[in-house]
Amino acid sequence: MTEHFLEEDYDLAHLEVTPGQPGGSKPVDLPILHGTMGPPVLDIRLLYSETDCFTYDPGYTSTASCESKITFIDGEKGVLLHRGYPIEELAERSTFLEVAYLLMEEDLPTEEAFRWFNQSITLHTMVHEQLRNFYSGFRRDAHPMAIIVGVVGALSAFYHDSLDIHDAQQRLIASHRLIAKMPTIAAMAYKYSIGQPFIYPQNDLSYAENLIYMMFATPAEPYKVNPIVAKALDKILILHADHEQNASTSTVRLAGSTGANPFACIAAGIACLWGPAHGGANEAVINMLKKIGHKDRISEYLKRAKDKNDPFRLMGFGHRVYKNYDPRATVLRKACQEVLAELGYKHEPLLELAMELEKIALEDSYFIEKKLYPNVDFYSGIIFKAMGIPTSMFTVLFAVARTAGWIAQWLEMIGDPSQKIGRPRQLYTGHTQRNYTPLDQRKP
Ligand code: CMC
Repeated sequence: MTEHFLEEDYDLAHLEVTPGQPGGSKPVDLPILHGTMGPPVLDIRLLYSETDCFTYDPGYTSTASCESKITFIDGEKGVLLHRGYPIEELAERSTFLEVAYLLMEEDLPTEEAFRWFNQSITLHTMVHEQLRNFYSGFRRDAHPMAIIVGVVGALSAFYHDSLDIHDAQQRLIASHRLIAKMPTIAAMAYKYSIGQPFIYPQNDLSYAENLIYMMFATPAEPYKVNPIVAKALDKILILHADHEQNASTSTVRLAGSTGANPFACIAAGIACLWGPAHGGANEAVINMLKKIGHKDRISEYLKRAKDKNDPFRLMGFGHRVYKNYDPRATVLRKACQEVLAELGYKHEPLLELAMELEKIALEDSYFIEKKLYPNVDFYSGIIFKAMGIPTSMFTVLFAVARTAGWIAQWLEMIGDPSQKIGRPRQLYTGHTQRNYTPLDQRKP
């Protein structure tokens, strides 16, 4: 971490806090910090010690939990930048491994640096042979996300030589191991679920090609990776690589703030990503489209999505930060049409249904007023499906991609001298102190 904001040049916000206790109002001057982009940030670190008051912000809608130089989002304009580079340009011109390097190392790699990184990732793709036994402890019908949460957590039991988070070299090896092994672990989860033998990675294949190869090849015959599918997968991995302080990334940072090892932290991130409000949405979108089934039933489902008493939500719509089109969805929408055409799909009913649903929702006053636009998950499921990827693997592939971002954020956090254990407080609304009543004296 370099200098902390514009230390000598900050504005001050003057606050008079009246907690309603003896002593009356307590004035405090809080610094207003300015990042390189984005809204000003009120630094409330002194608030409690100066005024005896906490802040209350469930869901962290007004809270910056850390300083970061990795990803910038302007939710109103629909902008997403990684280290300053627009996501559209990265998706069009870069590769997933180059983006992973960019996230971790602050800048795009030189040719030599990329050769080194690519080589290191390629040489770490195999997993410890004994890890294979771990899979057989799971039921065959286990969700692959359940399997990878367990297996990634178990990596810390296999790679003892990269657990010391205070050693920069060990941090680097653990980071490369995680990025390299995620496709292998993911593909093994799929192979296990369908009862096929695990397939070893091939060093002459790219990152995305290897992932496809390990999922779909069998030892019985040669398998050639379709370059259209590999290119599309690489683009999807780029689009999912990082997204600022989202729920799973914040989980990784929170776990990491305790000094937990990186394998445990990434396992925590995977668990968090699984939820349907987060990475699980891509699977939920396909299930929803299948349920809707026909464009004649769209209005029925929109009505349900708008009904406060119905828990149904339009999956793949809405975002905490974007109040405009999610730029990743724009790229994916186009990619989806291109890939389907390249793969020879003349007519893909789910895509047609999705586009009709999108059109109707975007014209609906409820969605307009609440600024609910399609997010990245709205189209990723359709493209995955066209590529022949089973629905239960959608969120797993999201986890493979997001590992690059999680790692970059974890590394940034460990290197931040102002880093502390994450320890939020609460607004307590339970009982005040009372005395224990013996069992025989308790009233029903
Ligand atoms: N369908 C219907 N209504 C919605 C939807 C939706 N998809 N999303 C938000 N709303 C309504 C919500 O009911 C609320 O209404 P009101 O103000 O009347 O109470 C309002 O819009 C604001 O929603 P919120 O839940 O307060 O917003 P949030 O920022 O807490 O939630 C979200 C964001 C992404 C969890 C939510 O939009 C959602 O559940 N979307 C569907 C799931 C989804 O697609 N998730 C993927 C997110 S992008 C990828 C990722 O993060 O992994």
